[in-house]
Amino acid sequence: MLKIAVLVSGGGTNLQALIDAIQSGKINNAKIATVVSNKEGVYALERAKGHNIPTKVIVKKNNPDFQDQLLEHLLESKVDLIVLAGFMCIFEEKIIKAFPRRIINIHPSLIPSFCGMGYYGLKVHEAALDYGVKVTGATVHYVDNTVDGGEIIAQKAVEVLPGDTPRILQKRVMEQAEHIILPQAVAQICERLQKKGRE
Ligand code: GRF
Repeated sequence: MLKIAVLVSGGGTNLQALIDAIQSGKINNAKIATVVSNKEGVYALERAKGHNIPTKVIVKKNNPDFQDQLLEHLLESKVDLIVLAGFMCIFEEKIIKAFPRRIINIHPSLIPSFCGMGYYGLKVHEAALDYGVKVTGATVHYVDNTVDGGEIIAQKAVEVLPGDTPRILQKRVMEQAEHIILPQAVAQICERLQKKGRE
């Protein structure tokens, strides 16, 4: 059974999509071994607890050892795959090197648009609306030492509609793209890792 770590900072709707995909068998032979948050009290932690998934809070604010503590927890948990699901932190090289092609991220735009430093959360959708694009979407990609620059695994487009606000657009991108392509990408990677394990 593959072990997945899901890293969160907020509401955890992408975490929920992964939990649902495991329960319904869309993701096979894998379990979420740990849900890690960099903040106390976020709703994603409640979602995990509600499904008896172990949780860990490693506070980032004013914590110079944050990256070391995170790395230690991920190594101790012996995870095969790390999913950044709305995780508002950038990894240092030592974490990326410890898990080559085993860390993925979901970004709420069609990379290379509206991504990189400063593009997170609602800011991404604000930028898309300011620019006036008619199509946006979401991207799942591997994490390397660039911000949102790693190899793309999956993308899905979503229409921008007249009258959209950043919040309305964010919700549509989550429902019509993120919650679909993230579980699909995880299922695909798990299959690859399982095959590799059998070789
Ligand atoms: C998502 O839009 C994700 O793409 C972004 O942060 C948001 C997290 O949402 N990086 P949730 O916590 O999964 O509900």
